[in-house]
Amino acid sequence: MSHCDRLADGGRRFFLMRGAVAAAGAAAVAGVASAPAEAAPSLARVTYPVTRLANLRDLKVNEPVQVAYPDADSPGVIVKLGTRVEGGAGPDGDVVAFSTLCPHKGFPLFYRTDDRSLNCPGHYSRFDCEKGGLQIWGQATANLAQFRLRVDRNGDIQAEGVDELIYGRLSNVL
Ligand code: FES
Repeated sequence: MSHCDRLADGGRRFFLMRGAVAAAGAAAVAGVASAPAEAAPSLARVTYPVTRLANLRDLKVNEPVQVAYPDADSPGVIVKLGTRVEGGAGPDGDVVAFSTLCPHKGFPLFYRTDDRSLNCPGHYSRFDCEKGGLQIWGQATANLAQFRLRVDRNGDIQAEGVDELIYGRLSNVL
């Protein structure tokens, strides 16, 4: 066998060996891909505490009251808007509550009575309390987390859920 024949024969063996390795790899991948998929449990399924935030008697129109929900480390505000709004609680449908942690980077929000908005001193995001915490300006990329409210026969305002992820949390309930 000449030198050139030996080189050609070695090249053919190398090519066939690489092909076999590639085929085995493809079969292994196909085996993994065809394994039955299992649905991951939803992380959004949390059980919220029911927490009394205030009584209707405590609220005056357009005067926010500081609250915390779903735990003491989650500051918020409850306000009677004086105008029925979507998602508003109570006989007048005008009581709403929101987290006061900005969804952008967690700065504490402040309430403006002139336009009933929550505002961020960090990077100027603004959220409309009459429209479910809709972001109306600024660098945040999410609407404000709103606390879901229910008013019982005594006028006690109970929080029983949150509609968005509160800033800085992987789950609203820790
Ligand atoms: Fe509120 Fe940045 S922290 S806009």
